[in-house]
Amino acid sequence: MADDPNLTVYEVLRLLRILEGETTIGGIACKMEVLSVMAALGFLYYKGMLKVNSERLTVGLTSKVEWDVKSLVELEIRGTVYSFPRAESLEDTLRKRDMGIIYEFSQLPINRDSLMRKFAFMQSFQDVDGKEMIFIGDDDFLSVTCSLLGRPRRVVVVDLDERLLEGIRELSEKYGLEIETYKHNLVHPLPEELQGSFDTFCTDSPHCLGGILLFVSRGVSALKRGIETTGYFVFQTVNEPLLMTFETRQRLLKLIINDMNGVIQGMLPASIKYTTPRNEDEKLMALFLEATRRPNLEEYYKHVEEALKPSSKFIEFYPKFSMEASMITRLVFKDPKPLIEGEYDKKAEEKYGPIYSWTIIEQHAAKEK
Ligand SMILES: C[S@@+](CC[C@H](N)C(=O)[O-])C[C@H]1O[C@@H](n2cnc3c(N)ncnc32)[C@H](O)[C@@H]1O
Repeated sequence: MADDPNLTVYEVLRLLRILEGETTIGGIACKMEVLSVMAALGFLYYKGMLKVNSERLTVGLTSKVEWDVKSLVELEIRGTVYSFPRAESLEDTLRKRDMGIIYEFSQLPINRDSLMRKFAFMQSFQDVDGKEMIFIGDDDFLSVTCSLLGRPRRVVVVDLDERLLEGIRELSEKYGLEIETYKHNLVHPLPEELQGSFDTFCTDSPHCLGGILLFVSRGVSALKRGIETTGYFVFQTVNEPLLMTFETRQRLLKLIINDMNGVIQGMLPASIKYTTPRNEDEKLMALFLEATRRPNLEEYYKHVEEALKPSSKFIEFYPKFSMEASMITRLVFKDPKPLIEGEYDKKAEEKYGPIYSWTIIEQHAAKEK
């Protein structure tokens, strides 16, 4: 259980800091694997240090941790307490965004805090104000967030999901944001009029090689030529055995740098936490409560390990996933070249794999059975 490469003192401290508040198990943000987080929760529980609210599906520490140093964790958490203008319209945006996810499109919005961090990160590089921005898929409603909190010159959203585009259009109208929406399947190249027209693209693609390469390629095809442009994607920097091995990450970066002519110029540490669907939180809590019926910690560990087999489309039930997988990564381009220019067809799939991570996980889970 302890062979988790992401299990560092830093991550354990972050976990404790999070448990000082009340959180669902799925809501825990740290790079440790699901299995390690479950192990840590069991440890605290059997020591009498964890209070569990099975109705609210939450866990938290029974007493306060004494922090005797101003640690990085402490600073980081304090750093996420923002005050900003238009807070009420942002709450409105988050309510509107909450429309239920479509598994088949690999949707999984980032939480409020991650949304703020992402905006602040982009803004700090001056990639929002006065810029022409394109969002390649946007279940996060980052387009709306950037338009509400910053002053972009032009904002375009491309997505397959009409419900989501409708929500963005309503908010755009209500707050006078002039966001343009395009219903488009990214397996096809972007419409001609969107190509070569933007300063910045933003994408949170499915987290697998094919998905990232496709979404980033479409973003790159939208960038202006002849000037320095930028793009944001979400990069999994920790090991994930099915989707992002060391070799896969290496291959991905080589393709972005060598074939697409990008340079990495900024990564936000401890950056992205996705929202957990309630049914996943329920399953995690049920699993935890069942495990805590074992007489001791050793039996608890055994039970958790056995129960956490790859069994669902979602990260929280795949034990080798980290609870918070990803870094927001900023790319800079001078002579952008999309790796995938035409359709994402059978040939592309043979080369780079499926574009949806859940396809890969499901295929694996089916093989295991
Ligand atoms: C891929 S999801 C984010 C997934 C999340 N990061 C993950 O790993 O599961 C981001 C957005 O892309 C959209 N999307 C998914 N497949 C698409 C496709 N083929 N064409 C256009 N948009 C798509 C989704 O509707 C969603 O709004």
